[in-house]
Amino acid sequence: KRTKIATLLSAPEVNAEVLIKGWVRAFRSNRFIQVNDGSTINNIQAVVDFENFDEAILKRVTTGASVAITGTLVESQGAGQAVEIQVKEVEVLGEANPDEVQKTVMQPKKHSLEFLREQAHLRFRTNTFGAVFRIRHAVSFAIHQYFNNEGFYYLHTPIITGSDAEGAGEMFKVTTFEPNNAPVNEAGEVDYTEDFFGKPVNLTVSGQLEAELGATALGQVYTFGPTFRAENSNTSRHLAEFWMVEPEVAFNDLNDNMDLTEDFLKHICNYVLTNCADDLDFLAKREAEADKAKPAAERNELGLKERLEFVANNDFERITYTRAIEILRNSKPYKKKKFKYEVEWGTDLQSEHERFLVEKEFKKPVIITDYPAYFKAFYMRNNDGCEEGKQTVAAMDVLFPGIGEIVGGSQREERLDVLKQKCADFNIPEEHVWWYLDTRKFGTVPHAGFGLGFERMVMFVTGMSNIRDVIPFPRTPQNAEF
Ligand code: 4AD
Ligand code: MG
Repeated sequence: KRTKIATLLSAPEVNAEVLIKGWVRAFRSNRFIQVNDGSTINNIQAVVDFENFDEAILKRVTTGASVAITGTLVESQGAGQAVEIQVKEVEVLGEANPDEVQKTVMQPKKHSLEFLREQAHLRFRTNTFGAVFRIRHAVSFAIHQYFNNEGFYYLHTPIITGSDAEGAGEMFKVTTFEPNNAPVNEAGEVDYTEDFFGKPVNLTVSGQLEAELGATALGQVYTFGPTFRAENSNTSRHLAEFWMVEPEVAFNDLNDNMDLTEDFLKHICNYVLTNCADDLDFLAKREAEADKAKPAAERNELGLKERLEFVANNDFERITYTRAIEILRNSKPYKKKKFKYEVEWGTDLQSEHERFLVEKEFKKPVIITDYPAYFKAFYMRNNDGCEEGKQTVAAMDVLFPGIGEIVGGSQREERLDVLKQKCADFNIPEEHVWWYLDTRKFGTVPHAGFGLGFERMVMFVTGMSNIRDVIPFPRTPQNAEF
């Protein structure tokens, strides 16, 4: 049975006979085979006594090939590794043509992230993406661990649904029609009102409303699933298909919600710091290296690990939207007319404003609360006692340095009459959300929750600056084939 390289390196049994299987990263001087099997960022070095070895086999040991190697684990003579394998036998399981490998990301040299994206099917074979996807796994595990420890239930919410939870209309339609056989309306357009065996449906934009149904009976639930937004924003922080984590808690108000968010995000940072040291070290060095080539103003002030430690050990700043507007209007960039967008009570904050607050004013994560009602979703709870024309809601956005909005959440409107009025204000027919309104009819309770953009969190803990580099299969027009 094979031993994983991670096990060999972390608990080496010198003089043991071992079998490893993996992929050749490099073969130097006809003597040193660097093998990686994905269990760790580190390769193991297998040393061949080539003068006494079958030349025909060694010819087939090339970068990218898969091999099974047996030999003895010995202390390493060379620098850089504690142990290495003295090879007895090499079996080439699958060859890799060197001429073809040379054109791929497997060629051991520095490749641009753009080039790696073009070869999304092979980038798993690189150190960077090995590290990123191992950490992505760890973050997902940390999330389940956190909620399990806190007594939450993992609730699977639908992917195909008739609900537009966010009311933003950014939905992918799902249809069971054959393209040539779809019913058309009077204007000659495809009539989507009947497309799912007689009902209109789309891919989910959020599992929140369904999570609320669960929370108002099970107490505390969370969803963690794929989410779809048909928004045409070609940015480094948006995907058409991303993963969202949405806890929902009965009896919580906005303050409880903020406490939960903060504790949860700190747990993830601590988990990664404790459990992903090698991958984190690798990515930190990679980032520091890349920073050297950048103008001073664009470099990271803190290293990757220091940023995670900072979040884990410092309270987030909590300010209201109204206060944020005041701060922004008194800021230097505002006075010097450096902001592109106007800052006025009643307009949404743009990313330039969010970045100023997080990266310049507070230099830490910031939670902004109590936004104007009209540009937030219909389900957010109306704050009481607002000035005429200045209705706010118990909303919260968590902004992270280098990322921007990482979490959006709120206390929910639990009062049936107010919620019905909000449906009317947002043009949501009550017959579309009757099942949601029912929770407010039967034993309604205050409750609150939030949504974490999973990929944005993975960006934060890996230091990757493009969201396409933290998801194994980003959905972009160039990358929808597999
Ligand atoms: O702010 P959003 O739209 O909130 C909701 O969907 C609520 N239902 C959440 C809740 O209260 N249960 O999205 C939540 C988070 C954002 O803060 C962002 O991190 C991420 O999801 N997000 C995206 N991530 C990648 N690509 C996109 N297109 C995203 N849109 C939102
Ligand atoms: Mg949001």
